[in-house]
Amino acid sequence: MSEMLKEINPKNSKNFNPYKEIGEKWMLVTSGTNKKFNTMTASWGGVGVLWNKNVSFVFIRPQRYTFEFLENNEYYSLSFFDEKYKPVLAKCGQVSGRDVDKIKETGLNPVFDDKSVYFKEAKNVLICKKIYSQFIDPQCFIDVSIQKNYEKNDYHKMYIGEIVKYIEEG
Ligand SMILES: Cc1cc2nc3c(=O)[nH]c(=O)nc-3n(C[C@H](O)[C@H](O)[C@H](O)COP(=O)(O)O)c2cc1C
Repeated sequence: MSEMLKEINPKNSKNFNPYKEIGEKWMLVTSGTNKKFNTMTASWGGVGVLWNKNVSFVFIRPQRYTFEFLENNEYYSLSFFDEKYKPVLAKCGQVSGRDVDKIKETGLNPVFDDKSVYFKEAKNVLICKKIYSQFIDPQCFIDVSIQKNYEKNDYHKMYIGEIVKYIEEG
């Protein structure tokens, strides 16, 4: 992240298009502390407004190492990057922190906020406080074709987090 980073109200974001940022450019979901944290790539999720709060939504399969961190920590962060970091995000989505030191492999620089961990190289960062979580329930599929995403019945857990801090390059 450049020296020009600023904490702003997410409503005033100049350059954040969630369809592109999440769906095309992807994000890193990170949770933990300076003692122990993990990060993984995600391209499903969202941002919006719920219960009068600015929120993010992420969907994490239970077999991810990151899942343990989201379960055991109060906060998570979403870090968004310039296109040139796509190979780094591809790597963080291919290997598990159980087997590989992703920080060593990628050269990313973690920043330890008082609430969560994010990356110096990011251009947008959302620090989110978990306020709700729930496993996807296949009985609730209205479009039954959604089941094709779950051949192993490894239904995601959805986390809704209040965006308590939004940082953007100036
Ligand atoms: C582009 C891309 C998007 C991904 N999106 C998600 C996602 O939204 N939810 C999820 O559970 N896994 C997703 N993954 C898979 C995880 O990033 C991957 O399994 C990762 O290795 C998990 O790392 P971990 O075990 O260290 O947590 C995605 C992978 C890629 C490459």
